[in-house]
Amino acid sequence: MLELATTLQGQTIQNRVREVGINPNHWYAVAWAHDLKAEKILSVRIWNQPIALFRDSQNQVQAVENVCPHKGVAMDKGKVQGDTIACGYHGWEFNGQGDCVGIPYWNEGQKLPCAQMRSYPVQEKYGLIWLFPGDRTLSELETPPNIPEYDDPKCLMIPIGAEFKAHFSICNENTMDVFHGYLHQNLQGWFDPVLLKLRETEHAVTAEYQVSYKGVLTKLLGLSESGGMTTKIISVDYQYPNYINKLEGVSSLYLMRLPISETESRSFAMMFLRLPIPVWLLTPLRRTLQPVILHLLFLPFLHQDIEMIESEQENYLKDPQRRYVEVNPAIIAVQRLIVKQFDRYRKTLQ
Ligand code: FES
Ligand SMILES: [Fe+2]
Repeated sequence: MLELATTLQGQTIQNRVREVGINPNHWYAVAWAHDLKAEKILSVRIWNQPIALFRDSQNQVQAVENVCPHKGVAMDKGKVQGDTIACGYHGWEFNGQGDCVGIPYWNEGQKLPCAQMRSYPVQEKYGLIWLFPGDRTLSELETPPNIPEYDDPKCLMIPIGAEFKAHFSICNENTMDVFHGYLHQNLQGWFDPVLLKLRETEHAVTAEYQVSYKGVLTKLLGLSESGGMTTKIISVDYQYPNYINKLEGVSSLYLMRLPISETESRSFAMMFLRLPIPVWLLTPLRRTLQPVILHLLFLPFLHQDIEMIESEQENYLKDPQRRYVEVNPAIIAVQRLIVKQFDRYRKTLQ
C-alpha cells in the first residue's frame, strides 16, 4: 500500500485515461434484478458486448451473447422457452451455456449443427444482477463487493440509477472529486473540503476528506442537532470497478459502475441512510420515504453532476489532444488505477 501526498498542485491529465477499456476480470453490476421479469429477455451492454439476460425455469439468471449464431439477429427479439432462449427469426434454441439445443424444423435424431454463442458467469445478489465479462476461470476468485448494510433494518436504502453519455473514467473522477461542492451550493451541499489522506494499492484508491455542512438538510439527515455548521469525514474508496463511500456515522454509498462503451456509462447506486428514526417507525415508512428522498435529495445533485460530466466528455471529443489541468492528487490516482487495471488485463492476453 502506498501512502500519497495530499497537497493540491497542478498536474496535466493523461488523456490516455479517456481511451482505455475496462479490466473485464471483475464482477460488474449490469441490471437491477427486479427489471428482469420471468419469461422476459433483458438486453444489456458491457464495454460494447451485447448481452441477453433471462431467467430459466428455476428463476436462475442466465446470460448469453445477444447475437444469434445462426444469422446474427439480436436474441432479445426472441423469447424464453423453459430453460432455453429461442431466437425470434428461425426459433433456434439455446441453453444458458450458449449451446444450440433445438431447431424447430430439424429432423428428430439428426445431429444439430455446431452453433455456439458465448455465455457469461452471472449471479443475483443485493437486488442486482452481476456479470463477469472476462476470463470465466477467474470468476470464482473474485466476488461482488460486500454490502452488509443491505440487510440492516436500521438503514434506509435508496436505490439510485443513472445513465451518462461519458467514458467511465469521467464518471469515476466525479465520484472521487469532493472539491465540486461549488456545483451543488444551491442544494446546500458540502463546503470547505480538505483532502486528509490518500492511499493507493493495485486495486483501490482510498481518500479521506474533511467537509463542512450547514442548513436544514443537515438537521434532517441528523448531521447536526441544530442545523448549524458541522464538520464530517467522508471516505471515498474506489475499489475498482466500484465505489464504497462513507460519511462518518451518517450514510454509506455503494456505487457500481457499468462501462457500456467509450462514451456511455451507467451506475447502480445504493445509498444507506441511518436516519434518526426508530426501526418500528422506519419499517412502515420505508416505501414512502425511498422515492421522496430520491427525488427531493439525490436526483437534483445527480442532474447537476450529469450535466458537468457530459459537458466534459463533449469537449474531450471535440479536441482529444487538448491537455487539461488537475490539482487533486486523488483524481490523478484514480486515473492511474484505471489505466493500470486495463494494462494488467492486456498483459494477461499476451
Ligand atoms: S437468426 Fe437466429 S434462428 Fe435464425
Ligand atoms: Fe456531485
